Amino acid sequence: MIDALQNQLFEDIPFVENPVYEKIIQDIGLNKFSIIDAFFSSEMVSQLRQSLLNKHEEDRFKKAAIGNRVNEVIVKTIRGDQILWIDESLPNAAEHLFFDQINDLVSYLNTTCFMGILHKEFHYALYPKGTFYKRHIDTFQNDDRRKLSFVCYLNTEDWKPENGGELVLYLDENGIETEKIIYPFPGRIVIFESQIIEHEVKLVETERLSITGWLKTR
Ligand code: OGA
Ligand code: MN
Repeated sequence: MIDALQNQLFEDIPFVENPVYEKIIQDIGLNKFSIIDAFFSSEMVSQLRQSLLNKHEEDRFKKAAIGNRVNEVIVKTIRGDQILWIDESLPNAAEHLFFDQINDLVSYLNTTCFMGILHKEFHYALYPKGTFYKRHIDTFQNDDRRKLSFVCYLNTEDWKPENGGELVLYLDENGIETEKIIYPFPGRIVIFESQIIEHEVKLVETERLSITGWLKTR
């Protein structure tokens, strides 16, 4: 109590513990990944989904490549999704709310765990039926600033496991590889350590929508 009060006086901003963010921090500390359901409200998911679909309709997506932006190649046998980078400086209403929530999380991580996240990048992703993203890691040989990977799913409420497109995380449990299978249910987010966790997106049976991004250090 006294501590909290001193903190407030000292920092000049009241610190309010956020149970969802605390769970993310604890999960990542223990397991290197965290899954949170309903991180985004269904209203917000539907606004973001509409935004994705509008932009896709306008033909603004391009086939996703591998490698970073200076060093990219399109290899459909590795990944078949289409992406569109989101410009945080020109957000529409849905994206504005999205970045508000992301920035709130980032400042919480930076203040409570000194994560040193200074940059971020996010893109919409659409996986047409029949596509996938083979097992990979999210850091490039010439760029290791990606610290945390972030995925949020924008599928409709009636999404079923049979629709495919599971995210599989390959985890190391005492030297034994285990697979963590995650269904892309709407509103769900997955955060994991970009430099450590290998993962893949299984074959998609029904068009799969998401936003993927990275929280980066300098
Ligand atoms: C990626 C990726 C996972 C997912 O875009 O790098 O691994 O579940 N996405 O969409
Ligand atoms: Mn990835």
